[in-house]
Amino acid sequence: MDLKHYLQKAQKERWAIGQFNFSTLEQLRGILSAAEKLKSPVILGTSCGELQYLGIKEIIALVEISKIKYKVPAFLNLDHAKNFEDIKEAIDYGYSAVHFDGSKLPLEKNIKYAKKVIEYARKKGVLVEGEVGAISTESSRIYKKKFKINEKDLTNPEEAERFVKETKVDSLAVSIGTFHGIEARGKNPKIRLERLKEIKKKLKNTFLVLHGGSGTRNEDIKKAIKLGIVKVNINTELRIAYTEALKKNLLKKEKEITPYKYLPGVIKEVQKKVEEKIKLFGSSNRNN
Ligand code: G3H
Ligand code: ZN
Repeated sequence: MDLKHYLQKAQKERWAIGQFNFSTLEQLRGILSAAEKLKSPVILGTSCGELQYLGIKEIIALVEISKIKYKVPAFLNLDHAKNFEDIKEAIDYGYSAVHFDGSKLPLEKNIKYAKKVIEYARKKGVLVEGEVGAISTESSRIYKKKFKINEKDLTNPEEAERFVKETKVDSLAVSIGTFHGIEARGKNPKIRLERLKEIKKKLKNTFLVLHGGSGTRNEDIKKAIKLGIVKVNINTELRIAYTEALKKNLLKKEKEITPYKYLPGVIKEVQKKVEEKIKLFGSSNRNN
């Protein structure tokens, strides 16, 4: 089954597939162990930075062999790529999907470049995600103060409709109040469900994607899925789980210098976080 099959199934049955980002073997193992345990399809995300660190050849080899080992439907997506060359490379190497992020461009240019991506991706059967309205900040930020969304960054439903109509992208990342990163105190601001409803009304068949999933309240995520979100991206919370577990394990076993003795605890924490999200998104037992 290809990724489109699972996105269509999610659309029909009102659940969402999680995109979990990784840049190390431990993160990949944590994600796939969770997916296997809960019988859930998953999308494995790599941003351009994550891809550059791990290396595209290593990513493809690791994912291909892991899919056999873990027996789960797992699909690679290039996350927030802004350059055609990066997108072309991911497609040529066998990614299932690419996210072209032209959200900082004027709409005309965003459409123009997205069309170019679509033209190339279609020939290889690769899905394309576009973005209208910006999802700001980075997945490495922990904000001390309350984060304020810039209203101008929210997705304009008319623009989203025009973008999808002209480019024919498969999926659309919508900006409805979430952001990359997390607030240090409590949960991130509420997402704008009214805006999501307006977008969905105009784009009934497009796969709508929620970025900046970390820190978003569980009840907000559930409501967003009910209103049509079929893919939720999570990165920051996984990075926190990984880094905190690593620090804790190293402190606890101060004299330990053998990676294979202190890393299993790190994999476990990543797995726990992914399991929590899979249950929240309702994608357990949807692996066929
Ligand atoms: O594209 C990646 C995601 O939107 C991740 O967002 O770091 O807030 O979980 P997050
Ligand atoms: Zn994102």
